[in-house]
Amino acid sequence: MAGVFVTRRLVGDALDALAAEHDVDVWTGELPPEPAELRARAAGADGLLCLLTERVDAALLDACPRLRVIANYAVGTDNVDLAECRRRGVAVGCTPDVLTDATADLALALILAVARRLPEAARAVRDGEWRTWEATRWLGAGLAGRRLLVVGPGRIGRAVARRAEGFGMTVAFAGRGDDLVARLREADVVSLHAPLTHATRGLIDAAALAALPPGALLVNTARGALIDQDALLDALRSGRLAGAGLDVTDPEPLPAGHPLLDEPNVLVLPHVGSATHEAREAMTRLCVENLRAGLAGEPLPYPG
Ligand code: GLV
Ligand code: GLV
Repeated sequence: MAGVFVTRRLVGDALDALAAEHDVDVWTGELPPEPAELRARAAGADGLLCLLTERVDAALLDACPRLRVIANYAVGTDNVDLAECRRRGVAVGCTPDVLTDATADLALALILAVARRLPEAARAVRDGEWRTWEATRWLGAGLAGRRLLVVGPGRIGRAVARRAEGFGMTVAFAGRGDDLVARLREADVVSLHAPLTHATRGLIDAAALAALPPGALLVNTARGALIDQDALLDALRSGRLAGAGLDVTDPEPLPAGHPLLDEPNVLVLPHVGSATHEAREAMTRLCVENLRAGLAGEPLPYPG
C-alpha cells in the first residue's frame, strides 16, 4: 500500500476507488496548503495529486524523497518544475482532452460576451442605470465575417476554431515559429491557447497589442502570464482593444481594486475553463489512472 497526498477535495468517485487500494490523505481546506504545509503533509507520500495552485519545485521534491508520481489536476503543467522531476525520476501526469470542450465553450462565451459588450450592459442593468429599450446604445460587433486568430493550435485551440466557424468567423492560427505580429495585424478577435513556458511568458506585449487593428478583442482561457497586463490596460484605455475576456490573470485572483476590474468591457472570471461537471469528474479519473500507473512503476497513460 502506497501513500498518496491529494491537495484538495475533488468531484467524482475515482478517488474513493483509489482509497480502497492505497492510503489516500486529502487536504480538506478550501484554500491550498501553504508551501511549508504541503512539504510537511506530503513528506512521506509516494504519489501526489495536486492542482495548478500548487508549486511543485525542488524544495517540495527535496521534502518528499519517496515521491514517484505527480498527477497534476490540469492540462497545463507550468506549476510543475518538469526538469527537476525528470532529474529525480518522478513521473508527471496531466489531464488532456477531457477539458477541451469545456474550455473551448468558455472561450466562445467570452468572445460573445465582449463582442456584445455584456459586461457593460449587465452592469448598467444592475446599477439601475438602464431606463428604456435603446435603439442606438449597446451596439457591439457581430461575429460573422470577423477574423479570429487562435494563438496555440493545440486541441483546445482547434476546438475553439470549429466553434467559431459555426458562428461564421474566419479562423487563422499562430503557433511556434509563426510571425505572431503579422497574424495579429489581420485579427479582429484573438483567443489564447498556448501553454505558459519561458518562450510564451509575456507573448502578448505592447508590440503585439499595437499590431492589432483598432477595436479588436482579446480572450484568454490559457494562462494569465501570457499577457503583459500593463500593456493590456494601456491598449484598452487607448481603444486599440474594444474589450477583453480573461478567465485567467496573473496573479489569480487579481488584488481588489486592480484597474482591469474597473475597465468597462472587460470580463474577468475565476479560472473556470474546465469547470463543467463532466470535465472535472473526468479529470479526477485521469489523475487516478496516472497515480495507479505511476505507483505500479508503469508509464503514465496521460504524461505531462
Ligand atoms: C487549467 O487551466 C488547466 O490547465 O487544466
Ligand atoms: C490542450 O489540451 C491543448 O492541446 O490545447
